[in-house]
Amino acid sequence: MSNTVFHMDNQWLPFTPNRTFKQDPRVFVGAEGMHFTTHDGKKVIDGISSLWCVGAGHNRRPINEAIKNQLDTLDYATAFQASNDKAFKAAQMIADMAPGDLNKVLFCNSGSEAADTALKVALAYHRARGEGHRNVFIGREKGYHGVNFGGMSVGGLPANRKVYGAQLLPRVDHMRFIHDPVNHAYIHHEEPVWAEDPLLELENRILVLHDPSNIAAVIVEPIAGSAGWYIPPQGYVKRLREICDKHGILLIFDEVITGFGRLGVNFGADYYGVVPDMLNFAKAVTNGVIPLGGVICRDFIYDAMMNANSPAHAIEFFHGYTYSGHPVACAAAIATLDLMKEENLFARAGQQGRVLGDAMHSALKGLPNVVGIRTLGLAGAVELASIPGTPGKRAYDIFMDCFHHGVWVRPAGENIVICPPYIVQDAHIDQIVQTLADSIRRHA
Ligand SMILES: Cc1ncc(COP(=O)(O)O)c(C=O)c1O
Repeated sequence: MSNTVFHMDNQWLPFTPNRTFKQDPRVFVGAEGMHFTTHDGKKVIDGISSLWCVGAGHNRRPINEAIKNQLDTLDYATAFQASNDKAFKAAQMIADMAPGDLNKVLFCNSGSEAADTALKVALAYHRARGEGHRNVFIGREKGYHGVNFGGMSVGGLPANRKVYGAQLLPRVDHMRFIHDPVNHAYIHHEEPVWAEDPLLELENRILVLHDPSNIAAVIVEPIAGSAGWYIPPQGYVKRLREICDKHGILLIFDEVITGFGRLGVNFGADYYGVVPDMLNFAKAVTNGVIPLGGVICRDFIYDAMMNANSPAHAIEFFHGYTYSGHPVACAAAIATLDLMKEENLFARAGQQGRVLGDAMHSALKGLPNVVGIRTLGLAGAVELASIPGTPGKRAYDIFMDCFHHGVWVRPAGENIVICPPYIVQDAHIDQIVQTLADSIRRHA
């Protein structure tokens, strides 16, 4: 690659080994449907929806047109003490899609901001009700809620936390992880039935230690996405809801990955039949085209904050971003959600998820170093035996090798994750899975 095309000296790449990147760069200059085009003219299939974002596939004209129209109509308007028509419309569409009385949408720009917003709402809500002492947060080991300090604190991915340990939020605890590699290494579109109840630890240790009356909120991803698509055991999500209800603890679902169709339905909350008190979203809501995130809150949370004894001109919640409800992002969300509905893409994700699950289990099980496969919805992970002394290297090498064979997958620890756009066809799934299988064999 020639540096006359573009210079790589100034961009510090996120979540990327910068030192080696330039020796073998992955640079995309175009995308259409299921594929990227690289700077040197290669076609690469997007096996991960560009990090769980591009549900409808790349370069969708209705979304692009909506953005262009919005730019020509209202490019931007301040979000404080005012709003815009697209923000109201997007909020209404999102609230209509959300289950139960999840009706109030606080917009932000990313999943990380959604996490910190939700945690702040939890504290402010409890305080508005005279329970300001409820300030403990409970996350889960290997949870991922973005990279800001709140989300990182309740998150449980060790590599993301270790450098910042001394400055993470105090009064945070973590539930145990939800993986049983001995009895449930292979999960094929099912909810594993565990002999033991992993939530006993929450009830008998964590709640007792902090006292339930001090706990503000529990935050979980319905399915642990960034860690590598780890699926909770049967009954877990419902029981978590019951425990939170019993103790007046808010339950936050981080649905940045599971939201907007990945499981074949609107949200993970729908999949599990559980309504959380807050639901975080981002990514697929705009098909990834423009940053937009948010937190959908149940009515009672909003009502409690509005009933605070303060004068009518006083702001009820001192929080917001310059770009909260940005009209261009909201126009993109409206067009995305319309398109998803028009093309019935959530149902398609569910249907193609079966095809992906079948393909992964039949092509990858039994290959060298494969120690687990977990599929549910339109996503799956294959777990590989760690190379002693170099954790993550096998998955990284396979990811790079797949790229060189025209397939973009995601390394996550010892896992390779596949989560293609909802428009994926059987032949694409075949190509992705067969390329991965060949690569796993090459790295035996
Ligand atoms: C569950 C979850 N929460 C939060 C985030 C952070 O989102 P962002 O990268 O938009 O800040 C992610 C990103 O992958 C995520 O998967």
